[in-house]
Amino acid sequence: MSSYDLVVIGTGPGGYVCAIRAAQLGLKTAVVEKRAFGGTCLNIGCIPSKALLHASELFEEAGHGFEALGIKVGKPKLDLAAMMKFKDEGVDGNVKGVEYLLKKNKIDAHIGSGRIVAPGKVEVTGDAGTTTLETKAIVIATGSDVAPLKGVAIDETRIVSSTGALSLPKVPKKLLIVGAGVIGLELGSVWRRLGAEVEVVEFLDRIVPGIDLDVARQFQRILQKQGFAFRLSTKVTGIDTSGSRLKATVEPAAGGEAAIIECDVALIAIGRVPYTDGLGLDAVGVARDDRGRVITDAHFATNVPGIYAIGDVIAGPMLAHKAEDEGVAVAEILAGKAGHVNYDVIPGVVYTMPELASVGKTEEELKAAGIAYNVGKFPFTANGRAKVNRQTDGFVKILADAKTDRVLGVHILGPDAGNMIAEAAVAMEFGASSEDIARTCHAHPTLTEAVKEAALAVEKRAIHM
Ligand code: FAD
Ligand code: NAI
Repeated sequence: MSSYDLVVIGTGPGGYVCAIRAAQLGLKTAVVEKRAFGGTCLNIGCIPSKALLHASELFEEAGHGFEALGIKVGKPKLDLAAMMKFKDEGVDGNVKGVEYLLKKNKIDAHIGSGRIVAPGKVEVTGDAGTTTLETKAIVIATGSDVAPLKGVAIDETRIVSSTGALSLPKVPKKLLIVGAGVIGLELGSVWRRLGAEVEVVEFLDRIVPGIDLDVARQFQRILQKQGFAFRLSTKVTGIDTSGSRLKATVEPAAGGEAAIIECDVALIAIGRVPYTDGLGLDAVGVARDDRGRVITDAHFATNVPGIYAIGDVIAGPMLAHKAEDEGVAVAEILAGKAGHVNYDVIPGVVYTMPELASVGKTEEELKAAGIAYNVGKFPFTANGRAKVNRQTDGFVKILADAKTDRVLGVHILGPDAGNMIAEAAVAMEFGASSEDIARTCHAHPTLTEAVKEAALAVEKRAIHM
């Protein structure tokens, strides 16, 4: 029987980062993985979706945007198999990178399904049979799985989750997407750019719930301009698979007359649920909430001594970087240090074109909390670099406390917003005011000048507007 200071179950961004940090701090560490190193993010999430977003964006630009820049390439032809190979090679390279890092940090990797048989004991069942690992601490980092839609069976061929939508063998003529969240809009963008007609059915009366409403509305207008069709306040009640085309029955969310939408592929993207199958949590008494999430305290400890949990399997945004930061924090806590995650400053990015990136509070949240705030907004149409690049959709919006001027939220809809939001996150982590950002010299000509101008706009003194 092998004996460890720490066994981490799951090697997604939460688990593998936790294991590396623990090993760096001198803990004898093992990981258990039943699928592939890197978890959802590397294998069927962040990395393959970003590879396809990148390739499809270039495909679309080659078709519509290059000529205006004086680049004649003719009508681009799609080689979908080659694009999928490009995506798979990107995934493979990243997965191998995780394997290398685990080895480099002398972390034992046990391949198989992990089950907690008692505090301090993890049983691993794989091709090599069953072994039991003894450990002082266990970190559950088993992630999440696709949320099912009642009455609709995902076959990953015609009715797909994000996993199937990342590997379609041909471009569907019509793609129906259930759920106008992050997955629906990112993967909808991929297939629209490659030639599919895309219609999105969303239960709520708005897209991307949780995002600042003003930003979400503008985002919807831009996506519609690109060719997305939206049916809001609508639900899918069933999908008939008997014919050569799928027939989805939709109804107003509040009830009413049903209608049929015909499509070739339907993507179900209505959220994700924590994944704890086969972990043995009930037998050892690890408490979960009503949504199946493992309940933890501020130090990631569950109610059972020696068992901790991080990432998608616990509460909070289901994001890779949130899982990573929790992995580092719990490793530091286990090594006797003061690990901590600041949940007020976790950026979120939707990698469409334009990108949508946010950190901190939305206007709706500030209103609900009764906090008085000032708004500074600056459009990319007034930013020199965006103009010359012909990427002027969107704006930067900064919300600052009316009394102290402290930055409470930053929302960027625009080209490269995902990179630009890092400036806002650093500023907020240091408790910056909008004036601090406004007085920081930003290089010219860059898109980041729009952030500075939005900060100036909080005091109504933007220069280029
Ligand atoms: P996971 O990455 O889910 O990893 C859990 C691991 O545990 C898996 O490898 C699983 O096989 C393993 N496991 C589970 N049970 C056991 C067991 N009993 N024994 C052994 N191993 C087990 N987030 C972003 O921040 N940016 C993005 O761009 C982004 N894009 C995404 C795109 C898609 C299509 C999807 C689906 C998700 C995306 N996400 C993105 C979300 C991101 O993937 C998750 O937030 C992140 O992977 C969570 O990390 P985790 O370590 O908690 O779990
Ligand atoms: P989501 O929570 O972002 O969006 C789901 C959408 O489906 C919501 O708008 C919701 O109102 C809607 N919905 C729910 N039930 C419905 C129903 N019955 N009919 C119609 N609409 C319905 O979930 P999504 O897009 O599946 O993504 C899952 C998770 O993966 C997210 O939490 C996200 O954080 C993560 N992710 C992150 C990415 C990123 O950071 N760029 C990319 C992709 C996923």
